[in-house]
Amino acid sequence: MTVDSDEIVIDVHLTTQDPAVVREEIRNGLLSSPRVLPTKYLYDDRGTELFEQICKLPEYYQTRTEFQILATYADRIVACSNANELVELGSGAATKTRVLLDAMDRADQLNYYVPFDVSEGIVRRVSQELSEEYTDLHIHGVVGDFLAHLEHIPDGGKRLVVFLGGTIGNLDDVVGPAFLSSVNEEMASGDYFLLSVQFVTEVNRLEAAYNDSKGVTAEFNKNMISVMQKLVRADFDPDAFDHVARYNHADSRIEIFLRSNKRQTVMFQDLDLKLALEEGEEIRTEISTKYDRKRVEHLLANAKFELVEWYADSEELLGLALAKKP
Ligand code: SAH
Ligand code: TRP
Repeated sequence: MTVDSDEIVIDVHLTTQDPAVVREEIRNGLLSSPRVLPTKYLYDDRGTELFEQICKLPEYYQTRTEFQILATYADRIVACSNANELVELGSGAATKTRVLLDAMDRADQLNYYVPFDVSEGIVRRVSQELSEEYTDLHIHGVVGDFLAHLEHIPDGGKRLVVFLGGTIGNLDDVVGPAFLSSVNEEMASGDYFLLSVQFVTEVNRLEAAYNDSKGVTAEFNKNMISVMQKLVRADFDPDAFDHVARYNHADSRIEIFLRSNKRQTVMFQDLDLKLALEEGEEIRTEISTKYDRKRVEHLLANAKFELVEWYADSEELLGLALAKKP
């Protein structure tokens, strides 16, 4: 644990990860069918910076839509939850979070903020910024994997746990439900949970959101290759891969791939792996599931949450479910 100042404490849990486990996870993914790479590696400092740019793209309607919904309902969410502590999983740049913090401040209920993210740089930056913006706000940042380190969320007051940005859609059908159950287990009875989900909409709109005209998303996806070069000493060439984003109707999700644009062999030194790829062969780096309300209601109920309210924009592009641990 590092105490950075009176108001900021940051715990780093990633360093406890066994490098052999990390290597095994990457190796297994590359050798599975379909080939996959763990999404969390998209978010090093460069990736986090690119993701912030994605959020401002005209094609990426999600961020501004979620911002509007939050702006409309923040006071209501705060009044309902009566929380004095905001815990945010996958907090990133916490841009939209300010809307909730402001509402808590207005209600004179703002004591603690817990940003939880795998990217150490962004947790430190956000903690610093917010401690300057909100006087008397105590910040306890957690740098960790929300699929492995949830138990390190510090004990606190009456909590509102938020999971924004549609990030639940990035977890598959097995991992997502297990994650929601773990979140529920970490919460106290009477605590609230705010879950953001992206709804199914027209395919063109969905695909454009993950394949923007400026190529920022392509660069974000290819950043995975740079991360692998450093992490497992891969001789992985970004120019030998194309960015592909396509909607999978059967599974209602966008799937993002790196597609080999030639026949090639990629050496992963630390994995003791020579990966032979055909031209056109794909490695999946991300999924982003699109939901309807029924599906989200099932997800929440299965994780033992009680749905309290639904909020959405007029076009039903995005929804926020406010739920409670009974
Ligand atoms: N909440 C922000 C960011 C969403 S992007 C928004 O709404 O805009 C997803 C965020 O989750 C990134 O900041 C990424 O670093 C983080 N993340 C992804 N996988 C993670 C994991 N396994 N554990 C913790 N954080 C993770
Ligand atoms: N949570 C975001 C989403 O599913 C993550 C994301 C946005 C993303 N754009 C991306 C992930 C492009 C990979 C590539 O919308």
